Amino acid sequence: MSREQERFRQRYGPWAVVAGASEGLGAAWAEHLAARGLNIALIARRQAMLDELAARLAQQHGVETRSLALDLSDPSTPDAALAATADLDIGMLVYNAARSVIGPFLERPLDDHLTEIAVNVRAPLTLSYAFGQRFVQRGRGGIILLSSLSATMGSAYIADYAATKAYNLVLAEGLWDELRGKGVDVLACCPGAVSAPNYVASAPKRSQATTTPDLVVGQTLQQLGHRPSFIPGRSNQVAAFFLRRLVPRRMIVRIMGNVTRGMYAK
Ligand SMILES: NC(=O)c1ccc[n+]([C@@H]2O[C@H](COP(=O)([O-])OP(=O)(O)OC[C@H]3O[C@@H](n4cnc5c(N)ncnc54)[C@H](OP(=O)(O)O)[C@@H]3O)[C@@H](O)[C@H]2O)c1
Repeated sequence: MSREQERFRQRYGPWAVVAGASEGLGAAWAEHLAARGLNIALIARRQAMLDELAARLAQQHGVETRSLALDLSDPSTPDAALAATADLDIGMLVYNAARSVIGPFLERPLDDHLTEIAVNVRAPLTLSYAFGQRFVQRGRGGIILLSSLSATMGSAYIADYAATKAYNLVLAEGLWDELRGKGVDVLACCPGAVSAPNYVASAPKRSQATTTPDLVVGQTLQQLGHRPSFIPGRSNQVAAFFLRRLVPRRMIVRIMGNVTRGMYAK
């Protein structure tokens, strides 16, 4: 194990929890953390995919794993996840799971939007609160919340999803400042479109994906402890700079809405 791996494991190990780990970015978080020597507790709904990933991580990286098939839209799940990991010395939480409702806001049932709030807001808040307390007690730890480039502006067709990602961005940034004096590093990861299975399955008419799960995770982990939020990928960083600093707000919202409509309008 290299010196950097040893430092990483000391600060954020020996166990990590990855919520939303069965595929795409979630599986990439698990892979990268296991490659750094952390044991991984994997949470998602699909047990078979978790078990397959767990077996691969154990075989390739020699780490311990625990698969927890849980639905994070259920309000009782965060407590169940905490109970199922109470015996593990956890030093890292990655909250990657998300539900994204795409389409005209009023044409989706209200329950869809409320489920989105449960998975994208309630569960990361609850888990950050519980693990944050544990990490502060031990004086070290890390929390990564998945936000999105869409978090910094309203956008038609993903109005509710983007708002949940804004919540994660702002929560992580606030906690970064509040907890950094206590040994706990918090970071919001704000990817643009990523070539992950669910993004591809959402069938955008024009693919905007300029990053891979591997790139997003690799770059983000290097930033943990150094800043409150991070946009992976050079082209996304440049786009964000121009949109946020140089374009009037009203125009950004319309540009982003047109992009999303162009991708998903029937
Ligand atoms: N892909 C992109 O282009 C992109 C861009 C910006 C930000 N992001 C953010 O990056 C993260 C990962 O994106 P992704 O595209 O890889 O996501 P994804 O494929 O849609 O889902 C991520 C994981 O969450 C799990 N999950 C979803 N709903 C769940 C629930 N109710 N309970 C438990 N687990 C649940 C899924 O597993 P199961 O189905 O097995 O439960 C999957 O493992 C998300 O937070 C997303 O908002 C993605």
